[in-house]
Amino acid sequence: AQIKQVDFVKSSSRPRDCPKDGLPEFAILGRSNVGKSSLINALVRKKEVALTSKKPGKTQLINHFLINKSWYIVDLPGYGFANAPEAARMDWSSFTKGYFLNRETLVAVLLLVDASIPPQKIDLDCANWLGRNNIPLTYVFTKCDKKKSGKGKRPDENIKDFQEFIKKSYREPPPWIMTSSFTGLGRDELLLHMSQLRNY
Ligand code: GTP
Ligand code: MG
Repeated sequence: AQIKQVDFVKSSSRPRDCPKDGLPEFAILGRSNVGKSSLINALVRKKEVALTSKKPGKTQLINHFLINKSWYIVDLPGYGFANAPEAARMDWSSFTKGYFLNRETLVAVLLLVDASIPPQKIDLDCANWLGRNNIPLTYVFTKCDKKKSGKGKRPDENIKDFQEFIKKSYREPPPWIMTSSFTGLGRDELLLHMSQLRNY
């Protein structure tokens, strides 16, 4: 399940501009700043394959990364980026929803959820939308290395709370994995999970 080669293929501003070679792909989705680009860099063990930033909204296009010349990881723009220009925010939902509904080669969405903060409504809304549209989903909890701050809860406690919320929306809860792009936690588990899904 290891990654031996990664090639950045292209950035697309519209779903119909995405690669048409029929290779399977995984979409990395989540709130702006949740750690999508960092996770991609951790998976491929390269620092600057996907650009990261402390400023939310860094990723604005659909970016295809070809792995081992045989499957794709797709970096998507983050949702819930309140400071984006009005036009960019409006675009996001039709743009990304179009991708999810029409992309036949999509194996699964990896929905990234920040485990260092309590469950956010926007993440639950997104999960519900994907669920209603029968889009296969795996939860990837990010920033699990973070210590609890002040009155906040620990990552494992936030994850438990999140699971409680989504219980009501799914007959069968989607698979989930705890990760940290800083420590490498969950990296091998996630790679194995993706290889199992590809081989179905
Ligand atoms: P957008 O492209 O704006 O949607 O953001 P993104 O989801 O790609 O987030 P990005 O990877 O750029 O990371 C956002 C911030 O979170 C950066 O400051 C990262 O250093 C930090 N971060 C990412 N992953 C982790 C992690 O595993 N642990 C900790 N502690 N911080 C992380
Ligand atoms: Mg990004």
